[in-house]
Amino acid sequence: MTKNELQFFLDVATLAAQAGGAVLKYYLGNLTDVQEKGRSGDLVTEADKASEAAILAVLERHVPDHGILTEESGELGDLKSPYLWAIDPLDGTTNFAHQYPFFSASIGLLINGVPQVGVIYDPFHDELFQAAKGLGATCNNRLISVSKTNSLDKSLLVTGFAYDRRETTDNNYAEFAHLTHLTQGVRRSGAASIDLAHTACGRLDGYWERGLSPWDMAAGIVLVEEAGGKVTAYDTSPFQISSGRILATNGYLHERLSQTLIETPALSSWKDK
Ligand code: IPD
Ligand code: CA
Ligand code: CA
Repeated sequence: MTKNELQFFLDVATLAAQAGGAVLKYYLGNLTDVQEKGRSGDLVTEADKASEAAILAVLERHVPDHGILTEESGELGDLKSPYLWAIDPLDGTTNFAHQYPFFSASIGLLINGVPQVGVIYDPFHDELFQAAKGLGATCNNRLISVSKTNSLDKSLLVTGFAYDRRETTDNNYAEFAHLTHLTQGVRRSGAASIDLAHTACGRLDGYWERGLSPWDMAAGIVLVEEAGGKVTAYDTSPFQISSGRILATNGYLHERLSQTLIETPALSSWKDK
């Protein structure tokens, strides 16, 4: 892969994220159609669908022979291609439906299964995060890098809770409580892409989550790695996008955070009322 090719894909990803982001801006505060996708709390709105249509139109124009995996339409295009676009047209749908301003359009490109290009556009704050393998990571065209925080007690972390949290004891509640105790705080923004982007630019020192989909993580992984951070499985083994589990940090906290996650016993489930 030449630098020019990667730059071309980065430009396409940027156009796609901006097209999706413009749609999200249009619908913010103007939703008339909010539905549950099956699992309680897993929402889909007309903004998710319209953003996805705008993103797909950009990909269709510039890379018609690539494979695509989107949250709302599933698999599209040539899935035998070495290029697979993993797209979340609205990451943070629950936030969006409540007009809580943490959401994005997130566009990742995997080449031979490895995330190599990532663009996350946060239209509310007008922040455009871009990265490509070997080309660095930027926010609004300025280079970004991860934080230098090297102890848990000085760190600010972020995590999230998947939609299956009521159905499993592997729901991240215990890890959240334990790490809240050991750090300056654990935030929950409600948008995995924003969590990764904010880890990449050093606002947050580390992020972990389970139960994610490839489109939640693909773009953000490239951002964190290109900003100097580290992305692995919880136990520091190589990251697998299909596992749904991610540990992304500034690097300095990685081992310590990994150990804590592994050593924290699960809490038993709570009964719904
Ligand atoms: C969700 C968000 C949230 C994470 C969930 C995701 P969606 O994506 O990224 O932060 O905790 O696991 O599913 O449904 O808003 O696109
Ligand atoms: Ca998502
Ligand atoms: Ca989504």
